[in-house]
Amino acid sequence: MLKAAAKVNLVLEVLGKREDGYHELVTVMQAVDLSDKVTIEDADILELQSRTAGVPADGRNLALRAAAALREAAGTTRGARITLDKRIPVAAGLGGGSADAAAVLVGLNRLWRLRWPVARLEEVATGLGMDVPFFLHGGRALATGRGERIERLRGSALGLVLVNPRFAVSTAEMYGRVTPEMYTDGRHAKTLAGGWGGRTPARVAATLYNGLQEAAVAAYPPINRIRAALLAAGALGALMSGSGPTVFGVARSFEHARQIRRRLTRGGWDCWAVRTLNGPAIRTLG
Ligand code: C5P
Repeated sequence: MLKAAAKVNLVLEVLGKREDGYHELVTVMQAVDLSDKVTIEDADILELQSRTAGVPADGRNLALRAAAALREAAGTTRGARITLDKRIPVAAGLGGGSADAAAVLVGLNRLWRLRWPVARLEEVATGLGMDVPFFLHGGRALATGRGERIERLRGSALGLVLVNPRFAVSTAEMYGRVTPEMYTDGRHAKTLAGGWGGRTPARVAATLYNGLQEAAVAAYPPINRIRAALLAAGALGALMSGSGPTVFGVARSFEHARQIRRRLTRGGWDCWAVRTLNGPAIRTLG
């Protein structure tokens, strides 16, 4: 059994549009302790089952695509039964599908005794989606390019509150809403990655930035209502994560995050108090 942790983007800057249709990004990604469980067992064929309603168990699921891609790259004919137990909300900006895919790569590397180093798994990960390579590392990292080039960063532990409005958004749709006026030059990521900006919760809160947020809020007003509610409940800063719609608030400590969470007991939103993870985002348990 593996645990696959979610991420938030403390900074996400869109630098411009690329020839290949993707956007050039600079983002600071941070693993947090809200996790899916991924169970991997030996089987004759590759199959996926989900214990969560609304999660596809076919080729639309990135976890199954990860297994198929690794099997092909490794030239093996072995199978596996993958079971997903999801706690990370789906299409929420928290990287849940990518985390599950990374867990499948790590788990099958073991089950199939491939002994591939992380660098080799990363090549398969990049082909699956731009968030997947991050989850092979975890902690806090600077990601550049389309989001697939990863550099580990040091950062002190943070208490965060995650708030999800229980609707899903499409990442492609959000990037499609970005206009050139929303492009920035990487200065926010530089401040956070440079050390100064990452040292205390107050400094992290002052450095938060997401270049997709303005377009997302225009299309989905609840995102701003959640931000306002988090700030009113005492968060030092509040930002949409990734392509949304989940919003996170920065607290002074984990205990403070729990206090904020309790003040937010409004119908219609799912809320979690979480800690940032310094170590791997994928952990093998037994
Ligand atoms: O790589 P991933 O599957 O997560 O990306 C989903 C979609 O988000 C892409 O098809 C693309 O439309 C958009 N995207 C982008 N620039 C990036 C990453 C994603 O435009 N750097």
